[in-house]
Amino acid sequence: MDVDAKKRQVARAALELVPEGATLGIGTGSTVNLFIEALAEHPGRIRNAVSSSEASSARLRTIGIPVLELNDLPGLDLYIDGADEANPARQLIKGGGAALTREKIIAAAARRFVCIVDETKLVATLGKFPLPVEVIPMARELVARDLARRGGRPVWRAGCVTDNGNHILDVHDLRITDPVGLEAAINQVVGVVTVGLFAARPADVLLVGTSNGVQTR
Ligand code: 5RP
Repeated sequence: MDVDAKKRQVARAALELVPEGATLGIGTGSTVNLFIEALAEHPGRIRNAVSSSEASSARLRTIGIPVLELNDLPGLDLYIDGADEANPARQLIKGGGAALTREKIIAAAARRFVCIVDETKLVATLGKFPLPVEVIPMARELVARDLARRGGRPVWRAGCVTDNGNHILDVHDLRITDPVGLEAAINQVVGVVTVGLFAARPADVLLVGTSNGVQTR
């Protein structure tokens, strides 16, 4: 079974965890796109959604799902999103799709975060996937020097402007043995908007698409 088929099966499995008529937080990426495709086959399954990107919002509107502002809601019951890496503690690296800041906001607002990945995303220690950091554009090099002092190799994702108008640094060569500590430390660097480590608030459920079916962790 190829990676796309694993993504498709995990996206479909996530649909079973969605309560009828829910207001859903929905993330960004190819796995989430397959989840939105699955939603399209079940009109009325969710009432509306808050989305982590303009791209996902457009897809949701195309299938007739109203997209709300988080500010107009008291919170969210459930958030469904993918990830770039996941460790056994369900801590994640996210931001390959440059939507990490809105994703972290939605994760913070949601009572339950269900992360959907294929098995290639599973790692023992986070850091093989370059860690995305969203930065205020004028602080890009200032932040990059700080990240280099921490042992990383930041690379500017040239040409990428986030939905918030910011830049992304992808930090290579990290072996993240203290995800909660590193998340807190990078978030403190002046000029950083968000680091794509989801460790202090990990996923509550990890659904993994494998050759042997969908596993729940
Ligand atoms: C976007 C993300 C995505 O969840 C992550 O990049 C995974 O994407 P895909 O489902 O395409 O593998 O964090 O910012």
